[in-house]
Amino acid sequence: MKKNVVLYSKIPDDQQQRLADEFNLTVFDSSPDANKDAFIKALANADGMIGSNMASRVDDQFLVKVPKLKAASTISVGFDNYDLDALKKRGIRLMNTPTVLTEGTADLIFTLLMATARRTAELSQFIHNGKWTKSITPEYYGTDIHGKTLGILGMGRIAKAIVKRAHCGFDMNILYYNRSAHEDVEQDYQAKRCELDDLLKQADFVVIILPLTKETDRLITKEKLSLMKPSAILINGARGKIVDQQALAEALQNKVIKAAGLDVFEVEPLPMDSPLLKLNNVLLSPHVGSATIETRYAMAKCAVDNIIAALKDEKPTQNWVNPEVG
Ligand code: DGY
Repeated sequence: MKKNVVLYSKIPDDQQQRLADEFNLTVFDSSPDANKDAFIKALANADGMIGSNMASRVDDQFLVKVPKLKAASTISVGFDNYDLDALKKRGIRLMNTPTVLTEGTADLIFTLLMATARRTAELSQFIHNGKWTKSITPEYYGTDIHGKTLGILGMGRIAKAIVKRAHCGFDMNILYYNRSAHEDVEQDYQAKRCELDDLLKQADFVVIILPLTKETDRLITKEKLSLMKPSAILINGARGKIVDQQALAEALQNKVIKAAGLDVFEVEPLPMDSPLLKLNNVLLSPHVGSATIETRYAMAKCAVDNIIAALKDEKPTQNWVNPEVG
């Protein structure tokens, strides 16, 4: 008998067809929210669910309402909205899509770094607004990238892809903050591991690409921001909650740091009353690290492979987040 699966994100037609061939597929096409009755109703008999951007946590409270669930396939690398203990208690497998988005996400984070340093969006707006009437004056100058010091928080796959770009393409010095040392980046890119405070004091660009966990939640506070150089630029491509966003807005407004490039926010979509929207030294992008045609296709395919394998009771591969459930 076919198993029941709920798809709650838009994916390419051919990948949706693979799910429809394999399972009794229900497509839930409103915003998925673990607290919302309509979503729970769609999942009432589900053996599996697949999708991304769930608004709220998949925890005990949610899982008691979906008692048949055996596998969840998230179309993302991050899985911070899943309570792993709650999944373990019920033997529910969780799979993610890590490798396929590494390079695309590194591209976007490097784009944010470069565009923030060179004030690309602001200067484009300057022309759109008809202000380019003579050669620009120093108040519009950007900041060099090549030869500067990149301080990176985290040293996973995406961090390594960013460091490669920084070292090989831009001759940057690399500092990193991470629980464990990574000999490969130390050898290949002369990266130096250091304490967080030392990194913040020395880096010209601070890039955050850490998972959101209890330890990293609000890691970057007002105090940490005050350690950064006034000329430094902060880039967050990980999760908004790693930074105290109010403190960051104040630091940008008071020129404690020079600028920021943000792809992620405490609340997404960013509310229209956010103080960040009033600042011109912050470049904003709407959580698009992996949002290219090629990468999103590869993520959808990977997530479909994952749910098919998990519900066939095959051992999932490197994308299995919680192999301890068996
Ligand atoms: C990811 O894959 O985790 C991206 O941040 C999208 O959520």
